[in-house]
Amino acid sequence: MHTIKNKSSKKAWAEALAQAAQEFPPTQLQILSGKIPEGLRGTLYRNGPGRLERGGISVGHWFDGDGAILAVHFTDAGATAVYRYVQTAGYQEEAAADQLLYGNYGMTAPGPIWNQWLKPLKNVANTSVLALPDKLLALWEGGKPHALDLQSLATCGEDDLGALNIGLPYSAHPKIDPKTGKIFNFGISPGLNGVLNIYKSDSTGKILQKTSLELDGIPVVHDFVLAGQYLVFFIPPVRLNPLPVLTGFSCYGDSLDWKPQLGTQVLVFDSETLSLVSRGETEPWYQWHFGNGYVDDSGLIIVDVARYEDFQTNQYLREVATRETYTPAVSTLWQVHLDPKAGKVQTIGEIMERHCEFPIVPPQDRGQRSKQTYLTVHRQGVDHLKEIFGAIARFDHKTETLTIADCGENRYPSEPIYAGDSQNPQQGWIITAVYDGNSDSSEVWVFDADRLDEEPVCKLGLPSVIPHSFHGTWKPA
Ligand SMILES: [Fe+2]
Repeated sequence: MHTIKNKSSKKAWAEALAQAAQEFPPTQLQILSGKIPEGLRGTLYRNGPGRLERGGISVGHWFDGDGAILAVHFTDAGATAVYRYVQTAGYQEEAAADQLLYGNYGMTAPGPIWNQWLKPLKNVANTSVLALPDKLLALWEGGKPHALDLQSLATCGEDDLGALNIGLPYSAHPKIDPKTGKIFNFGISPGLNGVLNIYKSDSTGKILQKTSLELDGIPVVHDFVLAGQYLVFFIPPVRLNPLPVLTGFSCYGDSLDWKPQLGTQVLVFDSETLSLVSRGETEPWYQWHFGNGYVDDSGLIIVDVARYEDFQTNQYLREVATRETYTPAVSTLWQVHLDPKAGKVQTIGEIMERHCEFPIVPPQDRGQRSKQTYLTVHRQGVDHLKEIFGAIARFDHKTETLTIADCGENRYPSEPIYAGDSQNPQQGWIITAVYDGNSDSSEVWVFDADRLDEEPVCKLGLPSVIPHSFHGTWKPA
């Protein structure tokens, strides 16, 4: 007997989000092709929403899913992987009840109206990771990080890094200065106006210094820039309308207004003293992510940013959770030249016109000039509205050329992660987790960082599907 399936317009990527992801214990990975480079020794960590449904009810936005971490350990004995949900208090409570209990970025709390005040928000710990010498932090920008065991991914609990105990959030895009080992990050605490808190930690994560600055309204600030001796914030013209959220009638993600008339607010801080150097204003745009920043020979700050023309990306990302997208939201790579003393943008222009996201540079180049930026892009000729990114690429800043690793039909890579070779400082590897919609399975692919147009040097099979994820990191052995 045959089952008749409804004809669906869903693309192959949607299947990776159809079911809650299954955890797996430490598992030796099968090599599907090539071999693991001898100088690739360490661990890839990735974080993303592992489940978008519980008890038959779907979450409201891709950002609402419970965080699950993939670790792939590369050793002399081969590669092993482990995949675990972050055991946040909210996750445990909802798992025991087998239903969603909390509100989140894109949903109000289910159940009676008083739940809007009792359970407005769950820390989903789903956005990124920070690998410290003795713990892994699962990051989420609305709250504290969760500490996990680096090897087993067992959750140890929330971590205040010695200074977040007064309810300060710790965002998901910390920056490690390769010259000093210091870790910079920020968090926006809500109030009548948002407060930008900036943190400087030592290499163990312990916060040594912090500062705060009251902002104009409550904006969305997802990422910032480390550029030489500066920390730079571009505050996009998105503001929270707090009343519907406070009264429980609407969630945070539905109460964000695009206000281009406000322009983009520019804030420049000194990374040594954390004091404000300058502030200014420039034209409106929205970004989730910066590629990198540095100070050029003339003293100007140069910043690469994946820039959107408006905030429609929020609606697009909500649709990803429904497994069907229809709202256009295109970001391309732009470069901003900023006078740090005056807080004034001198020039701004597009440097790559292809739709891209997740721009990164090798960690040793962070805050310095980098020869290249790695990013995710679309495959040639696909429907940008319906498909998600199917390729990763290397943008060469000198030649302004793009080298593309096309993953093939119905295959979807994650954000590229750069892993330096332990034996040769000139050599690097790009690691990406690929969901293959042809076989409904996930793999880990390793590319030579300078040869993305060649076949991966190694492909490893994962025990089960890893849903599309947000951010990761590489921790050298
Ligand atoms: Fe991000």
